[in-house]
Amino acid sequence: MGGEPKLPTTSLTLLFIIFFSLSTNARFTPPDNYLIDCGSPQNTILDDGRTFKSDPQSVSFLSTDENIFASSNSVPESESLPLYKTARIFDTESVYKFLVFHPGRHFLRLYFHPLHHPEYNLTTAVFTVKTDDGLVLLHDFSASQNSDCLFKEYLINVTSDDFSLIFSPLKKSFAFVNAIEFVSAPNELVPDSATTISPPGMFTGVSAYDLQVVHRVNVGGPTVTPKNDTLSRTWMSDSRGYMVFPKGEKVVSVDPSVINYPVGGATALIAPDQVYSSAASMADSGVSVPNFNLTWEMNVDPGFNYLIRLHFCDIVSTRLNSLYFNVYVNGLSGVNGLDLSTLTSDLAMAYYKDFVINASTVVKGVIRVQVGPSDLESTTPNAILNGLEVMKMSSSAGSLDGLFSSGSNSRGGSKRLPMTITEATGVAIGVIMLLVLIFSLIRRKNKARGWDEGGNSFTSWFLPINASYCSTFLSSKSKSKNGYSSVLFSKVGLGRSFGFDELRDATKNFDESAVIGVGGFGKVYIGEIEEGKKLAIKRGNPRSSQGMNEFQTEIELLSKLRHRHLVSLIGYCDENNEMILVYEYMANGPLRDHLYGSKPALPSLTWKQRLEISIGAARGLHYLHTGGSSQGIIHRDVKTTNILLDDNFVAKVSDFGLSKTGPALDQTHVSTAVKGSFGYLDPEYFRRQQLTEKSDVYSFGVVLFEILCARPALDPTLPREQVNLAEWAMHKQRKGVIDTIVDPIIAKTISSESLIKYVEAAEKCLAEYGVDRPSMGDVLWNLEFALQLQDASLQLDPLVEDDTCKGKTKMVASEDVKKDEKKNNDSDVSILINDDSGVVMGSPLFSKMEDIEGR
Ligand SMILES: *[C@@H]1O[C@H](CO)[C@@H](O)[C@H](O)[C@H]1NC(C)=O
Ligand SMILES: *[C@@H]1O[C@H](CO)[C@@H](O)[C@H](O)[C@H]1NC(C)=O
Ligand SMILES: *[C@@H]1O[C@H](CO)[C@@H](O)[C@H](O)[C@H]1NC(C)=O
Ligand SMILES: *[C@@H]1O[C@H](CO)[C@@H](O)[C@H](O)[C@H]1NC(C)=O
Ligand SMILES: *[C@@H]1O[C@H](CO)[C@@H](O)[C@H](O)[C@H]1NC(C)=O
Repeated sequence: MGGEPKLPTTSLTLLFIIFFSLSTNARFTPPDNYLIDCGSPQNTILDDGRTFKSDPQSVSFLSTDENIFASSNSVPESESLPLYKTARIFDTESVYKFLVFHPGRHFLRLYFHPLHHPEYNLTTAVFTVKTDDGLVLLHDFSASQNSDCLFKEYLINVTSDDFSLIFSPLKKSFAFVNAIEFVSAPNELVPDSATTISPPGMFTGVSAYDLQVVHRVNVGGPTVTPKNDTLSRTWMSDSRGYMVFPKGEKVVSVDPSVINYPVGGATALIAPDQVYSSAASMADSGVSVPNFNLTWEMNVDPGFNYLIRLHFCDIVSTRLNSLYFNVYVNGLSGVNGLDLSTLTSDLAMAYYKDFVINASTVVKGVIRVQVGPSDLESTTPNAILNGLEVMKMSSSAGSLDGLFSSGSNSRGGSKRLPMTITEATGVAIGVIMLLVLIFSLIRRKNKARGWDEGGNSFTSWFLPINASYCSTFLSSKSKSKNGYSSVLFSKVGLGRSFGFDELRDATKNFDESAVIGVGGFGKVYIGEIEEGKKLAIKRGNPRSSQGMNEFQTEIELLSKLRHRHLVSLIGYCDENNEMILVYEYMANGPLRDHLYGSKPALPSLTWKQRLEISIGAARGLHYLHTGGSSQGIIHRDVKTTNILLDDNFVAKVSDFGLSKTGPALDQTHVSTAVKGSFGYLDPEYFRRQQLTEKSDVYSFGVVLFEILCARPALDPTLPREQVNLAEWAMHKQRKGVIDTIVDPIIAKTISSESLIKYVEAAEKCLAEYGVDRPSMGDVLWNLEFALQLQDASLQLDPLVEDDTCKGKTKMVASEDVKKDEKKNNDSDVSILINDDSGVVMGSPLFSKMEDIEGR
């Protein structure tokens, strides 16, 4: 076999490589390439071949969970770009965070068009767009002046390994954006030095400035679209009125293929052939003696320095050394007697020159560029210009809009957590406060009566809430069609009141075969009601005081919380002294079953799925810690059996039976008897019996390793040093051989960068002391990074990406779009369950409770 002649193939490959590299001379493939069509439910492919990712696919870049979208087809005819047809709206400060693989210049392009939205009038939006290191791109920006499509383009030198773009609405306003590009630019694009005019000299240090492209003109030629520019730039046609005296101009153009690029000078990346192959020259040149300047004037914001780039290519001369002309900027001499023949030693050879214009020389907000013949004795006095770019340079205060420093800007410095704190409507606030009040009253009353010992029935403390005055407290318009009376619960999220008979029938008289989980509180059954709708029905054991407490906690918390990554109730039953809670059935059950130990074994999850699940769970916990209530909530029992997966493998945190509200502001912890599950228990909490959010972070670290290694947190059957996963993984990580314990089924598919970032996140969670552990928000960022790194590695091989994305991600995505809800608890749609589906629409849900180890 080995004797086959291999040579032909090899040389063919070689030939191919040579051919390929020659033919793609002017090609540029950006290493960082983030294209997002905000608010769009599906990917958008432009005619230049670029694919803008749909919004749901891009949420991993975004700090907010909220999805407010606008869309419309009423985009001006002149704008054929589909990117303007959808937008994402932010009503709190929100951050896009992109991983930077190659530091250096990046194009940042923002698209704005105020679309119609029933609740948000986008023409009234006022907001600031800035970067995390304080560069202000737009200050108190508003799209109101004209309702046209606005396009903003920046060239930012990114030196760190990530880049955050912050949308920060003015107080009581909101922000929006239609599309975002964040794309690497070639380093050669912006050299460090340029010519100064007043005084004449050299300017070095351009790379320290961030730039905004204000004008880019293909002089003498048509508009060049991103399709004809490998850097996806748009070069405006000169017919837009920059030319002051068009009659003096004669347009020349040649076939783009004749344009050449000198060694070590302009390249086809600096400007495409189409720019150099057309020019404005002087009308009547060579006939009489022309003695005037060709003049272009462009409006700019005063107060900034500008980088001006002029493109030249001698496509008018028939022989070398016959074209000499002067270049003026703002009336001052830029180049005296520019001699392209000498500079490039050939005709049709591209050349460009950069000038830095001091702000003090910009008069009345106008930049004027002029070219005129310098040698009137020549037989053909002439002057040309092929292309023109005007770029605003960032101010010393780090701004490209307005003359302020981001530091002194009142809102600029605030780096608050991006997670939204839910603002309930007046009614909802009222109801929750009433509920809390009732609960605390009852609890106090019951404590006095020794209720905690477990003599009382569920009904006794449930009753007052059901009382009719509560129902009338709320508007009757939300009354259920089905005749269920519990308006109150509908409003606060407890859902509908089920009849006991109904649930008994649904579970075949609470048959053992319907049990899907067992816990200290009783059993969880799967039940079917109306048209096969599946429910998880948790039936409390009235004799268990622990069960009673946990039920109460769960109801209290769930009634206040609503989040895509937390399970929530759809109803309850309090007839016949029963305490039954009803949740939506989570079709894919606990995460643990998908990692190990299930019989029969379930198909294993891909790395991308595992990352998405861990991100979902982290989002849920982050919401608990920060968003759910002013004090924050500590889950206390984070483990892989309490993370449930719905039919789209969206992860939801469940079981709030042990949860506690977090420490009040003046305290740093909650003192409490140690509860939780062995293997996940924070050692610090165990030692000091002081509970903080960081205890959840520790448990989540164990979960992360469980996901990575697909083995239990505690496995007594293993050799002693391996029994405790947290210890074992940390031991391996310290020795730098974590890869040896990765689940072998997925080990080969994990990109090493993704693995490093993921393990880094998990490792930090397991820090000995709580103060050294990151917040859930930080963990979330790191996991999202790990996902981006994995995606990036897949992008090298698009086939692989297609395979892994099609299934889960897209389905999750479409659900995201459907939600389109403004807030967690003021959206009636997500809370009321009176529609025929019988189930909360778009609501996160719950099902299985598993064995409770270590309780
Ligand atoms: C949006 O606000 C602008 C400016 O206040 C107003 O002219 C316009 O009519 C409003 N549009 C809608 C749909 O309310
Ligand atoms: C970006 O900035 C850094 C530090 O100022 C500099 O070393 C680097 O050359 C710059 N890169 C570009 C492409 O301008
Ligand atoms: C863009 O490029 C295509 C082929 O590469 C060419 O046919 C077309 O004329 C170009 N468009 C412009 C505006 O130069
Ligand atoms: C061309 O413009 C420059 C600068 O504005 C001016 O000094 C010069 O006189 C002009 N030349 C002609 C022929 O008008
Ligand atoms: C612009 O001019 C002012 C004074 O005329 C000078 O102080 C400043 O340094 C100049 N800026 C640049 C970037 O040349």
